[in-house]
Amino acid sequence: MDVAILGGTGKEGSGLALRWARAGHRILIGSRDRERARTRARELAAHLDGAAIAGLTNEEAARAGEVVVVAVPHAGHRALLEGLRDPLRGKVVLDTVVPLDFGAPRLYAPPPEGSAAEEAQAVLGPEARVVAALHQIAAHELKALDHPLDADAPLCGDDPEAKRVAAGLIESLGVRALDAGPLAMASVLEGLTALLVRLNRRYKVKGAGLRITGLEAGSGR
Ligand SMILES: NC(=O)c1ccc[n+]([C@@H]2O[C@H](COP(=O)([O-])OP(=O)(O)OC[C@H]3O[C@@H](n4cnc5c(N)ncnc54)[C@H](OP(=O)(O)O)[C@@H]3O)[C@@H](O)[C@H]2O)c1
Repeated sequence: MDVAILGGTGKEGSGLALRWARAGHRILIGSRDRERARTRARELAAHLDGAAIAGLTNEEAARAGEVVVVAVPHAGHRALLEGLRDPLRGKVVLDTVVPLDFGAPRLYAPPPEGSAAEEAQAVLGPEARVVAALHQIAAHELKALDHPLDADAPLCGDDPEAKRVAAGLIESLGVRALDAGPLAMASVLEGLTALLVRLNRRYKVKGAGLRITGLEAGSGR
């Protein structure tokens, strides 16, 4: 699958690019600067013996990707998407963004729409097929290619087919994708990252992760 990663030059996007390229997907790294994207694409491909990773502008990547992953800081999220309404029409948009305010006691700081993913849907309009996911899959874990990822990956969205496509892509990272329901659940999923940040601090670790128990006996998969 052709996977575009907006902000793919950064920590989370580059980690996802490595894991997905290794799983056989063609990766389109998006950036505000095409040269920066090309440089990062070359660096990442070198890790994987010449995997299919290209560098483009965010807009070029958004047009070319079958699935478009959003991996920019929340500060740039709304403005980025406002400029991409046309290229993202009809696309599966996998939003990983967590609005966090590290200076505030209330760490999770969502926009007025309720969550970053609902902000994306509001900005892009109903034709974009927004799925929220991957908020708890940390960049440093993605980068450690010699370690399997030890986590579940809940996702939510309003388009069942988009969620099916996103779940397949997520599972190719080697984690279990769990359908958590409609996009209205996105604030819960994004907010769980604030929980992991607090646990990491409290227990002086870097890798607190999320696992849901008790689903194995169900017939929903
Ligand atoms: N880091 C993690 O472990 C992790 C885990 C789960 C989810 N996430 C989410 O993933 C997103 C990215 O996190 P990150 O740690 O990868 O961040 P990052 O490395 O600081 O930034 C990612 C990329 O976003 C682009 N960018 C930065 N500011 C921007 C702006 N104002 N407008 C548009 N693009 C901008 C930059 O690319 P160019 O300069 O090349 O355009 C940058 O390389 C965040 O929303 C975060 O909540 C992160």
